[in-house]
Amino acid sequence: MVEQHRVAVVGLGIGQSHVWSWRRMKDRFTVVAVSDLDESVARETAERIRGEALTFEQLLARDDIDVIDLCTPPSLHLDQIVAVLEAGKHVVCEKPLVSSLADCDALAVAEAAAPGRVMPIFQYRYGGGLQEVKALVDAGAAGQAYTSSVEVSWRRDADYYAVPWRGQWATALGGVLLSQAIHALDMLTYVVGPATRVFCRAKTMVNDVEVEDCAAASLEMADGSLATVSATLGSAQEITRHRFHFAGFSAESGTSPYQSASAPWDVTPATEAAAAELERLRAAQGKRAEDWWGQFERYAGFLDGAAADPPVTLADARASIELLTALYDSARRGVDVTLPMEPDHPLYRGWLP
Ligand SMILES: NC(=O)c1ccc[n+]([C@@H]2O[C@H](COP(=O)([O-])OP(=O)(O)OC[C@H]3O[C@@H](n4cnc5c(N)ncnc54)[C@H](O)[C@@H]3O)[C@@H](O)[C@H]2O)c1
Repeated sequence: MVEQHRVAVVGLGIGQSHVWSWRRMKDRFTVVAVSDLDESVARETAERIRGEALTFEQLLARDDIDVIDLCTPPSLHLDQIVAVLEAGKHVVCEKPLVSSLADCDALAVAEAAAPGRVMPIFQYRYGGGLQEVKALVDAGAAGQAYTSSVEVSWRRDADYYAVPWRGQWATALGGVLLSQAIHALDMLTYVVGPATRVFCRAKTMVNDVEVEDCAAASLEMADGSLATVSATLGSAQEITRHRFHFAGFSAESGTSPYQSASAPWDVTPATEAAAAELERLRAAQGKRAEDWWGQFERYAGFLDGAAADPPVTLADARASIELLTALYDSARRGVDVTLPMEPDHPLYRGWLP
């Protein structure tokens, strides 16, 4: 049944984009309240949306709120997610969800005991170009994957690190791999599946911060293909780029740093089957919502009961955290690391130094 779902957004940095995205579907979602430690920001946003400015604890106590959307600094996510689940509500939470596989597994236990579900944010998945490539793979038009490449060449300077929680292990939980490349890595595994072996080097070279701001990695994927990752926060020209090379086709994203998942992607079929599937997809697919809007639009279907799971699940975030754990482990020890990682792995409880 199609219902109106009542949402509260907590943390109004990037959370402002969430407020805007929920409100693009006014027939499906109402943002009834917002929360921020900066009361003036909360009040100003609440007035603009004709909602209320409340504390996190007040939101938990309200029985007319269905979904609490957490856009707070990463080190707060674990406790806040558990509190929302215990309050009987659904929870949406920004990346990185938490800082260890152990935390992911604790969340799975909390979710199983609660009526609500956790939806981590991976909004880049919903770019039209990436969706087309994913549809080709799901339709069986790809065949064997050979290699993939991921470039995250962004720029961050002192202004970015002026926000106190950024740049430090304890509060940001990681650097370019965790905070920026997390999306591009998720796009890689969303299309070709999980990695089974990784080697990574990571360094801090661009800014005077604790966490890494440059990284290079090579990955072997479960399907036998290979992938390379290059990530820096010191690029004068900002780009993001993916290339995928399958037996059936090759695909290259655009390079707009924060919109590279969007169409058009340059897709070159190598087989008649892939060419026919691509033609069919392009004829059939209307333009769908992208970014957070795209993820929330699909989430409405889950809340209505049309899907068993949210479009992004705790298992998806766990897979992302597992890959990041392996990359940090490899970078620190200078060795190949194999996945999956078991609970007796030394970094199962986290990679924080
Ligand atoms: N998906 C994306 O593309 C994307 C982009 C940017 C940030 N993020 C993620 O979003 C989260 C927030 O990042 P940001 O850049 O907006 O940070 P920010 O510091 O700019 O904003 C966070 C806000 O949360 C508020 N806050 C902190 N603790 C709070 C609490 N207990 N209750 C209510 N409000 C509280 C702060 O006052 C601040 O206004 C991080 O996890 C970050 O990694 C994701």
